[in-house]
Amino acid sequence: MKQQLENIRLQAMQELDNATTPAALEELRVRLLGKKGELTAVLKQMGKLSAEERPIMGQAANAVRAAIEEKLEQRKTVINAAVLEQKLAQEALDVTIPGTPVNLGHQHPMNIVLQEIKDIFVGMGYQVVDGPEVELADYNFTRLNIEEGHPSRDRSDTFYFTDDDSVLLRTQTSPMQIRAMENTKPPICILAPGRVFRKDEADATHSPMFHQIEGLVVDENITMGDLKGALVTVMRRIYGQDAQMRFRPHHFPFTEPSCEMDMQCHKCHGTGEVDGHVCSTCHGEGWIELLGAGMVHPKVLEGCGIDPEKYSGFAFGMGLERMAMGRMKINDLRLIFDNDIRFLEQF
Ligand code: DAH
Repeated sequence: MKQQLENIRLQAMQELDNATTPAALEELRVRLLGKKGELTAVLKQMGKLSAEERPIMGQAANAVRAAIEEKLEQRKTVINAAVLEQKLAQEALDVTIPGTPVNLGHQHPMNIVLQEIKDIFVGMGYQVVDGPEVELADYNFTRLNIEEGHPSRDRSDTFYFTDDDSVLLRTQTSPMQIRAMENTKPPICILAPGRVFRKDEADATHSPMFHQIEGLVVDENITMGDLKGALVTVMRRIYGQDAQMRFRPHHFPFTEPSCEMDMQCHKCHGTGEVDGHVCSTCHGEGWIELLGAGMVHPKVLEGCGIDPEKYSGFAFGMGLERMAMGRMKINDLRLIFDNDIRFLEQF
């Protein structure tokens, strides 16, 4: 029996040395040490031994088991290392192979300009707010002092949802002035960018959907000088220190006095002509209208519960597409909405 054990040990050592894969090792473990394994088979014969011989053989068997277990561990370490080595070699990366360039997109020119404008206003203390595109006629018109029968209320100009013309797609961002004044007490200093909708045919400067950025500042002692100062500062930041601008008197029902602000045409530089032809971007005007503005009408303040004797405010509404056209030197508004990648890639 002792010889039997010694044979098992010797053969096991050799076989373990020859095993080169984790699977072969596992197979050997089962065959040598498992319940139906060789060592177990020998131990089963122990019953036949005398009482003196039994512990001696038991010890010898345990020693063989321990030797095999130790060898198994050793081989396992060696084989695992070899397997890892091989795997690493197989999966080696050649970091010198040139990569495939990934085409990175970027923001739409409108968003780039919007972000720029927002950043400037936020830097001046404005809070950016958002409001509904589906709006009540009450906010879009009535509370902005736009009377019944005003042409902008006409069904040929405005998209209505209801037969009584009480719900519509906002035609301007100015209703955000009412919402802001309703919700907060002065001082108010907000910027409200968003989409607006009008029944316009699309051409070089019109689209049935476009973007406006509304601004509203209400506090004590706000004057037209604050309005001009804020707008000129912003425009110079966007278009450069030597940008040419002008203010013209105008009329809006919700501001008094009211004005419009123009920017010198980026295409003809104010001459109204390009190569002897009428400039197609400004239609020969030499100027491009950027925004409407004015001092908030006392009636509008009052309607929102703000005392016009104590407070005053200025407001403005600029066309984002117009701003983008000047900033990015885009000559036709439709290009902004066409989503032609050849156009968008230029920015
Ligand atoms: N909402 C006007 C428009 O769409 C623009 C405008 C004019 C906005 C004067 C204002 C303002 O806030 O004070 O034509």
